[in-house]
Amino acid sequence: PIMKTLDGRAEMELSLAERLGIARVVVVSGDSEQSEDVTRDVGQAAAHVLRTFLHPPCTVAVTGGSSLAMLAELMPQATTPQDVEVVPARGGLGERHELLANTIASQLAARLSGRYRMFHVPESLSRATAERLAQEPTIAEMIDRIRSANLVVHGIGDALTMATRRGLDEETVAHLALRGAVAEAFGYFFDAEGHIVHMMNTVGLKLEDLSGDKMVIGVAGGRAKGPAIEAVAHAYRMDALVTDEGAARAILKKG
Ligand code: G3H
Repeated sequence: PIMKTLDGRAEMELSLAERLGIARVVVVSGDSEQSEDVTRDVGQAAAHVLRTFLHPPCTVAVTGGSSLAMLAELMPQATTPQDVEVVPARGGLGERHELLANTIASQLAARLSGRYRMFHVPESLSRATAERLAQEPTIAEMIDRIRSANLVVHGIGDALTMATRRGLDEETVAHLALRGAVAEAFGYFFDAEGHIVHMMNTVGLKLEDLSGDKMVIGVAGGRAKGPAIEAVAHAYRMDALVTDEGAARAILKKG
């Protein structure tokens, strides 16, 4: 019961920050898996964290997914125009329209009274086609913008859940299972140690872009996402993580 108090959560935030090497960790109470209200609370907390990191003029790259959709929905409406550009982090990743990074970029830009840029690149291109496409001048210009974004806000998924949701073929799913994939973010799949085991062939943000002076914010709640959050924390540096007690307990219990 003590964990239900604010102090209990503050303690979890500190333990997680230390364990995952993330400077700012926010843990909202409850478990997103158990209640929609908690999913909303994670989105709201993430919107708040993003606002504290936002220093216009700046460019924000966002991924798709339900956590980011919630963040955009719950971002308070800015009343004066802001010099903020919101872009999708990568091209299409086989999500439903309301969960696409393009959709979320436009919604978040509206909330921030900023601008957005769309990026229409089909998912599941062959590697050769993706590479050729990236050389098209208008696409290359957009990729540059994305890769030089000041802030990146992204969801984190369980690998097999995401593989199914995005309709990856059986052979790829088997490959992911064999290689021990536990996490997905930006279309990259990682094992528990944070090694890349598979990546979707689209264009945009690359993992190596996350180092350097970008602020990186991860948003993911729910007990089942515990291992995925831990895996991505091994894969690259996050400056902030917004999660819930369900995921936090799953991570802390293990160690
Ligand atoms: O990349 C990870 C997924 O976008 C997470 O999606 O927020 O709907 O669970 P979700």
